[in-house]
Amino acid sequence: QVGILGGISLVVGTMIGSGIFMSPASILVYANSVGASLCIWAGCGVLATFGAMSYIELGLMIKKSGAEYQYLKAAYGDVAAYLLAWTSIIVTKPSSFAIIAVGFAQYVTTPFYPGCLPPATVQKCAAAFCILLITLINCFSVKLSNFVQIFFTAAKLLIIAAIIVGGFVMLGQGHTENLTNAFEGSATSFSAIAVAFYSGLWSYDGWNQLNFVTEELDNPVRNFPLTIMIGIPMVTVFYILVNIAYFTVMTPSEIIASSAVAITFGDRVFGPASFIVPVAVACSTFGAANGSAFTASRLTYAAGRNGHMLKLFSFISVERLTPSPALIFNVRYISIYLPTLTVLYCHLNAWVGPRALRFYFVVLSYCCRKMKLSIFSRYTRTLIYENGSFIALLMIIPDASNFSTLVDYFTFASWIFYGATFLSVLVLRYRRPDWERPYRVFLPIPAICFIASLYLIVAPIIESPQLAYLYAAIFIVAGLIFYFPLIYFKKVPPFMGSFLQELLEVVPPPAE
Ligand code: ARG
Repeated sequence: QVGILGGISLVVGTMIGSGIFMSPASILVYANSVGASLCIWAGCGVLATFGAMSYIELGLMIKKSGAEYQYLKAAYGDVAAYLLAWTSIIVTKPSSFAIIAVGFAQYVTTPFYPGCLPPATVQKCAAAFCILLITLINCFSVKLSNFVQIFFTAAKLLIIAAIIVGGFVMLGQGHTENLTNAFEGSATSFSAIAVAFYSGLWSYDGWNQLNFVTEELDNPVRNFPLTIMIGIPMVTVFYILVNIAYFTVMTPSEIIASSAVAITFGDRVFGPASFIVPVAVACSTFGAANGSAFTASRLTYAAGRNGHMLKLFSFISVERLTPSPALIFNVRYISIYLPTLTVLYCHLNAWVGPRALRFYFVVLSYCCRKMKLSIFSRYTRTLIYENGSFIALLMIIPDASNFSTLVDYFTFASWIFYGATFLSVLVLRYRRPDWERPYRVFLPIPAICFIASLYLIVAPIIESPQLAYLYAAIFIVAGLIFYFPLIYFKKVPPFMGSFLQELLEVVPPPAE
């Protein structure tokens, strides 16, 4: 059961990650003035709050696991829901992993190159190291990763508090020069503002986290809105104060030139204690990566249950799980990892043919049994994490992929689906007026959010088309290639049926 405090820490813990330590520079580049960039930080906070308010209505009305997936399914039907599941597995989850890793890399490498930028190769290696390390930790022990999560959340709140206090001490000493004439030169271009929002919205991403745990919320009708209305404005205030602190200590051009703003800040303000900054930011990014795994799973579970991913994705391990409500919690171990198996299966099938593949699985299964390990306990985790990690690794390789291009890629893909979800509030009011709505959001709010997401998706494409957007769009649509044969016509390869079920020791979940 998640109470108000638990809910707030879930929301705040997910939202604060890498963004606040990385995005200030890219926002400043596009907003072009201190004042405009503070406005963008505030604007993103308002958008996140409004978005989350629209999600409250949906969350309390459709209480099934899977958040957006269920809402899109209810409003537009199967294809939309399937595309969301597909996109999150192929695009958004790996790219958020990659972004966080790049943020981590920038913070751990910068202290070793005082006065200049760390070489790109060094940064990419550090990012790859981060991805592999997180993968390893998560494959190794769930308990360890849960414990470490709490520690990480504490570390990030501490460093945020330290930056705010440090900044305000400097402000008190009269360092206000960067904050005067704050709006001089502000950007006015339509697309520049949208792209600045992309970076800001990355820092706020996670505002929908509560929708993934509605079922576990204590007294949801009261606590859901309360948690949102406390948690997200709280993060917004933190972010604005941290930015004011940055601007107090650094000039705009210093912020843009620095590859890790908080380190420059730490060097000036904390003196000999400045080494805590990269350490704390490393913890913060690790926590963010860890936390995301939790929610992605439920989506896959829901998709599997509806036949949008293989049914098998929703099956439940005989050995580890019991059919009780608590099971949904545990099922995540299965459901996160199975999508990879399918993707892996499709690839391998093409490369080595079904026979060899079958042999591979038999050997794998035999080894797991010999080692007295349920295949789900550790090895599927490994397999599927590696797949997500694998795509993430691919994403950091290209020369052009730095923090902000990856963020653009991520935000573009996610806001397509957030936008569709905002619209679904309106669609469902019209199409399902009879459904019980314990919380009714003021309708202009989802309407504003929908218009904002349209603007965010369209403006950058029109003014400065970039390959990243094209790739993201292609990946999303490419999902349909799998939809029709595998899901619509149910031409599931026989291999995926009883054989895998037996191999993996899983059974179908209880009926909904
Ligand atoms: N806002 C976080 C950050 O600044 C990233 C959140 C990623 N999204 C998620 N649903 N876990 O690093």
